[in-house]
Amino acid sequence: MLTRIDHVGIAVRDLERAVGFYRRTFGLTVVARETHEDQGVREAMLAVADEPAGASYVQLLEPLTPQTPVGRFLARHGEGVHHIGYGVEDVEAALAAIGAAGVRRIDERPRHGSMGASIAFLHPKDVGGVLTELVQAAPRR
Ligand code: CO
Repeated sequence: MLTRIDHVGIAVRDLERAVGFYRRTFGLTVVARETHEDQGVREAMLAVADEPAGASYVQLLEPLTPQTPVGRFLARHGEGVHHIGYGVEDVEAALAAIGAAGVRRIDERPRHGSMGASIAFLHPKDVGGVLTELVQAAPRR
């Protein structure tokens, strides 16, 4: 069901500072910058791998305000790993199968994610404390 690790989501206080760090330290390149009002974040996606079998990314997340999920995460835990995004071929089918296995879903239906992907989050309490995201990537252009 899971095809790869699509991205690791990392909560940061200062997006530009974090982008600079990942650029200088690891030589990563920003491939997309987006603001998701519904999730309350500004983000940058940096490509780690861009293989034909599927790209993978570091997703740097800066909260738009303290009263957002990532804002509350930063207040509680400080900067660090926020969630893991796994690639799936069919996010609706994966959500149905995972729900049938008894895992609570934050998103009952897929919604729009980064770079045109269709995404859904699973409840961290049912995934060993890990906020888990399913990512059906947009068809490659
Ligand atoms: Co994500």
